[in-house]
Amino acid sequence: MKNGVQALIGAQWGDEGKGRVVDALARDADVVVRYQGGANAGHTVIVEGKKHVFHLLPSGMLYPDRLCVIGNGVVLDPEQFISEVNGLEPAPEKIGTRLVVSNNAHVVMPYHKQLDVLSEQARKTMRHGAVIGTTGRGIGSCYVDKYNRVGIRIEDLASPKILEEKLRMNVEEKNLILEKLYGVPGLNFDELYETSLSWGRFMERYIGDSSCEIDSAVKSGKKVLFEGAQGTLLDVDHGTYPFVTSSSCVSGGCCTGGALSPGRFDRVIGVAKAYCTRVGEGPFPTEDHGASGERLRERGAEYGATTGRPRRCGWLDIVALNYAVRINGFGVIALTKLDVLSGFDELKVCTGYEIDGLRSVGFPNSAYALDGVAPVYESFPSWWEDISKCRTFDELPVTARDYIGFIEKSTGVPVGLIGVGPGREDTIFRDF
Ligand code: IMP
Repeated sequence: MKNGVQALIGAQWGDEGKGRVVDALARDADVVVRYQGGANAGHTVIVEGKKHVFHLLPSGMLYPDRLCVIGNGVVLDPEQFISEVNGLEPAPEKIGTRLVVSNNAHVVMPYHKQLDVLSEQARKTMRHGAVIGTTGRGIGSCYVDKYNRVGIRIEDLASPKILEEKLRMNVEEKNLILEKLYGVPGLNFDELYETSLSWGRFMERYIGDSSCEIDSAVKSGKKVLFEGAQGTLLDVDHGTYPFVTSSSCVSGGCCTGGALSPGRFDRVIGVAKAYCTRVGEGPFPTEDHGASGERLRERGAEYGATTGRPRRCGWLDIVALNYAVRINGFGVIALTKLDVLSGFDELKVCTGYEIDGLRSVGFPNSAYALDGVAPVYESFPSWWEDISKCRTFDELPVTARDYIGFIEKSTGVPVGLIGVGPGREDTIFRDF
């Protein structure tokens, strides 16, 4: 890994293939940090033909002798956490990997998941309800409690008295919402309290001060990788609001969610797919509803790692990518799934939008404005060769090299890593 402290950020609507890039970088990293989101993420890594999907654990867990950190900005579902830790074979302790969960991260309680689903269902029946198409993992409802200052933090799980106090208040309040608003049975405090204490007993050995852990790693010159979840266009501030997730997915989110000051980062890596996908609702200017979109979905196996939903597919959007470059300050781009573009009659790349008949190259980050844009495309020839065995840039067909060259020219950012297949080894590194 080239630089000391790096952030790896999704440049599109999530699902850019960050898991495999983190996996490639984690080989040389000492510390891997998750800093936002929760089990709504699904990071897939394929090692020796075996597929590993992490929703919560940092992707660095597959390497020995790493420190893996779940930062304060994460919302952690203990059930998911316990099942992922128990599913690791061999256990992290056996390979010398340490896992630290921030005492200040927030707990996704079962009622958060229930409220997430109920609120989406209710919106479907409302005349003016905007359905987001959430993953149902309780992410938004948990962040609501965090910002409403009633959330339960990880440290509370290991403090029976504080937990009792906070949980009583939450159960009382949530029961009002569940019973009076949604007309469903309320929560049973005793059951929930016992379950939460059992989570605390399991998690106790992992709870720590993630901020101090990261700080001392950076001070001692260790290589630290911040692993973003979701993507720039799903960021709660900078994405296509309201069709976004509830956390800060952009590079700035690393500072608050990972507790490291901006000046200590050496490089921000943007991960972009060679085309675009989106799950859930919201505008997607380059979505292809025809045979090309279908082909991208089938060839790219574009089905959600968390929910299994088919992803909406379309062409690379340079306008949106340039927006992500600006918001995040990418120093390099990792371009994934280039192999999926083999064998198309024509590749399209969106280089501008037409808004009310006028050409624009600016990205309107309001979902309502974006909904009305018409993409302006440039056309590129594809290639017919199987590129999955290429390991150097020069081995790629000239049309594939031109496609990458166009991305570099249009964004002003070098493409340093190219994914040419699903496996760990199917990667071209160019001065990365
Ligand atoms: P939530 O994060 O579950 O609240 O969902 C909000 C929106 O973000 C929905 O459109 C989801 O499909 C989308 N989303 C959340 N996590 C991911 C992800 O990891 N990849 C892609 N889309 C996601």
